[in-house]
Amino acid sequence: MGIASEIPPQLVEEIRSKALNAARPRGLTPEQQGALSEKIQALLEKNNAVLITHYYVDEQLQILTDATGGYVGDSLGMADYGNRHPATTLVVVGVRFMGESAKILNPEKRVIMPDLAAECSLDLSCPIGTFSAFCDEHPDRTVVVYANTSAEVKARSDWVVTSSNAVDIVAHLRSKGEKVIFAPDRHLGNYVQNQTGADILNWQGFCVVHDEFKAKELQRLMQENPDAEVIAHPESPAEVLDMAHAIGSTTQLINAAKASKAKTLIVATDFGLFHKMHEAAPDKQLMAVPTGGDSASCVSCAHCPWMAMNSLENLAAVLENGAGHEIEIDESVRKKALIPIERMLEFSRSRGNV
Ligand code: 13P
Ligand code: SF4
Repeated sequence: MGIASEIPPQLVEEIRSKALNAARPRGLTPEQQGALSEKIQALLEKNNAVLITHYYVDEQLQILTDATGGYVGDSLGMADYGNRHPATTLVVVGVRFMGESAKILNPEKRVIMPDLAAECSLDLSCPIGTFSAFCDEHPDRTVVVYANTSAEVKARSDWVVTSSNAVDIVAHLRSKGEKVIFAPDRHLGNYVQNQTGADILNWQGFCVVHDEFKAKELQRLMQENPDAEVIAHPESPAEVLDMAHAIGSTTQLINAAKASKAKTLIVATDFGLFHKMHEAAPDKQLMAVPTGGDSASCVSCAHCPWMAMNSLENLAAVLENGAGHEIEIDESVRKKALIPIERMLEFSRSRGNV
């Protein structure tokens, strides 16, 4: 496997600083939470809107999404659900690339988000200018990009993938003899390469959450809990994935937790997932893979700072007045980005995966 050049140190610093300085919603009393939830429910009806929510956001938002008939899921499921649901307003409670995917698929709908500044370090580590130039240098390669990218990067790609279908799609391309550029997550690219044996040129982006999981501390935790099983998201470092009993997207990890015979699970992903994992496998004890300890301190500490920007307060505010919170994408970019996303959805639907 080849690798693209390292992400410039200045960009890495910029991303870390954005993560550390992401706005934190204030804490609310149970009474305030209850009042806001009621208000949001009424506003959803008034706006003919539905909540489409990622597993990593605050548990109260996941509970409210379920209670109002919305969808809580992984990024593939979110894109598919928004595409099928009849509501005229999609409220995407997650990070910006998820709202952009919803808009690319549904140009006729209003797509709003509680905070448009909710970004993603993978998206940030793949700027369109340098990425496009890199692709131009390798015209013989199929360009495969992770859903965690901007609309412009998707528009430059041949295929979009998520963590739930990246291995299957790259295996399919390899079976046709295609060589691949994979971007932006270096750990996911590495994992896909190991699983498929494909010829991959791997972009060197990183997720501030998963990149911090520490193999050394995980090993210690496993020694202290010899009966525990490790389940990991493929954005985690290879040394962590090497110790995992199951690897997959957030939805696939919930299914793995349900299927596991172990009483204790050590989980390498954002701890926001614990809410749904507890619901699906209530008998399991869940532990997070350490992010700090002897070998380092943490920036995200197992919780995405941008997912954490979503709150009941800013959700109520955006439903009251969506001005400045609506996703807008240049039509020529949207049309180009639609092609690889639809290709992915068709691939996953044909295999019964959405
Ligand atoms: P999933 O597609 O597995 O939900 O992953 C999205 C993501 O951002 C993980 O960090
Ligand atoms: Fe991006 Fe990582 Fe946050 Fe997922 S957890 S949205 S990959 S920064």
